[in-house]
Amino acid sequence: DIQQNEDIRSRIRTIPDFPKPGILFRDITTLLLDPEGLRLTIEKMAAQVDGKVDLVAGVEARGFVFGAALAVRLGTGVLLIRKDGKLPGATIAEDYALEYGTDRIAIHADALVPGARVLLVDDLIATGGTARAAVRLLRKAGAEVVQASFVVDLPDLGGADALRSDGIQVASLVAFE
Ligand code: PRP
Ligand code: HPA
Repeated sequence: DIQQNEDIRSRIRTIPDFPKPGILFRDITTLLLDPEGLRLTIEKMAAQVDGKVDLVAGVEARGFVFGAALAVRLGTGVLLIRKDGKLPGATIAEDYALEYGTDRIAIHADALVPGARVLLVDDLIATGGTARAAVRLLRKAGAEVVQASFVVDLPDLGGADALRSDGIQVASLVAFE
């Protein structure tokens, strides 16, 4: 349904040629600035949660905003999945491929209780490289990743399908072809 969550979709700005020519960048900063947009986003993400969640994990940086707000709404804490080199304690890390080179995300090694039921949250899924690495990292740390939730899916890039092939239930509010 093309009209689904038009209240969310209409508050996301599209900026052409960022970060490089030919890319249509879906900018959620306009959604965050709008009180009703922010409230609706968190309410709708909460409504998509399926089953019991012990902890929300948000991916740096935009995933922190939605992850923390959703955690308050669900009554859980929030785990910060950070770009490598930012966390002060002992960490567990995971590498993932970028268009050019690799990147690394990390969590504190003692952050997770074994078997914790974790909801992964980010603003957007594109190729899925970030979210799939986050799932590998959380699983390596002993979590059960029960679902992954995004505001925006770019389905043409295949990330959500790839995550599903990893055994993750995927939810999103709006898709941009
Ligand atoms: C963006 C976005 C996701 C990721 C999606 O983050 O917030 O985390 O890219 O792309 P993928 O599905 O192809 O991995 P970015 O790395 O730009 O970081 P930021 O939130 O710190 O700006
Ligand atoms: N918007 C925001 N983040 C992104 C995008 C986009 O269109 N593509 C990949 N990461």
